[in-house]
Amino acid sequence: MLVMAMSDAGSTQSTDLLEVYRLRKWFRAKRSILEVLQGRDEHVVKAVDGVSFTVKQGSTFVLAGESGSGKSTIARLILRAIEPDDGRIVFAGRDVLSLDKAGMRWFRRNAQMIHQDPYSSLNPRMRVISIVGEPLEVHGVGKVEREEMVLRALQEVRLEPVEEIAYRYPHMLSGGQRQRVAIARALVLKPMLIVADEPVSMLDLSVRAEILELMQSLKVRHNITYIYITHDLSTARYFGDTIAILYRGRIVEMGSIDDVLHDPLHPYTQALIDAIPEPDPSSRLREKVIRIRSHPGEEVDDRGCRFYARCPYAMDVCRDEPALVEVKKGHHVSCFLYK
Ligand SMILES: Nc1ncnc2c1ncn2[C@@H]1O[C@H](COP(=O)(O)OP(=O)(O)OP(=O)(O)O)[C@@H](O)[C@H]1O
Ligand SMILES: [Mg+2]
Repeated sequence: MLVMAMSDAGSTQSTDLLEVYRLRKWFRAKRSILEVLQGRDEHVVKAVDGVSFTVKQGSTFVLAGESGSGKSTIARLILRAIEPDDGRIVFAGRDVLSLDKAGMRWFRRNAQMIHQDPYSSLNPRMRVISIVGEPLEVHGVGKVEREEMVLRALQEVRLEPVEEIAYRYPHMLSGGQRQRVAIARALVLKPMLIVADEPVSMLDLSVRAEILELMQSLKVRHNITYIYITHDLSTARYFGDTIAILYRGRIVEMGSIDDVLHDPLHPYTQALIDAIPEPDPSSRLREKVIRIRSHPGEEVDDRGCRFYARCPYAMDVCRDEPALVEVKKGHHVSCFLYK
């Protein structure tokens, strides 16, 4: 439970910064030609289907899972870019979904986003100084103070020489430099939470580690809390404290990075880990060799375990819905193998 005192400046004494309860977002997708011919009704995508988790202040919470598992939808719901069908979001002790106008301003300042694509996320017609200064302008910071804060933020993300970079346009920067600008823009308002949706997946391998290392050092220096979205478990291992593995809109496993990656319980997590290239052949991770059954062509049943059709251990009971239960301290799994 959350016990805290907080001021408008955003200082908290709690351990939990963000709590998400039974978040749900279903999309009504267009029917495919096949579905039209078959006379089938509207196709519903259960992008996020009853997701609950807690993020501790100052920690990095990783959301991992394959493409389409609902990672970005959760990010957009948390930041209120889209509204959930159901569920509750509590941020620094305040119910995000019922904030008034002033409350939303406070929330927008304190919850920032870094996008995947540094090429499309920055306005090409704006100079770096305006891109990074824009959120400050929105929040009413005057010009002189704004410039000072922008230059300091550029320094923090190590974009040197700062005075020169500040007057460049995005097309004059490399991918890594652009992502540093995006980080400076997220950082400039001194937020409590930064949601980073695949922040390095579009960058060259050589700059990925640098950017993650920068984000890590900023986290320590400013006590930032991150939600780090990735399908790459090797960066999750470096960067995360806690991890939730998503499969088709549901969390199938959740726990500390060490527990989940060294002792994966869910067959889907085991398969994901098996897909990580492992530099150390003696690692315990190597022993977890498992194959996922190939995905059946037909629509997968939404009742019961979502992984049923692909699971090598599927049992009759898996036609029921498995609950996410704590099987070891802090290690939760949604699988009947652990009943
Ligand atoms: N606006 C929308 N309308 C209809 N369907 C949507 C919409 N946004 C997302 N979806 C669907 O919801 C599901 C989850 O999408 P989401 O983008 O959250 O996945 P993801 O885990 O972020 O995937 P990726 O790794 O590819 O970014 C997908 O099936 C997607 O097609
Ligand atoms: Mg995504």
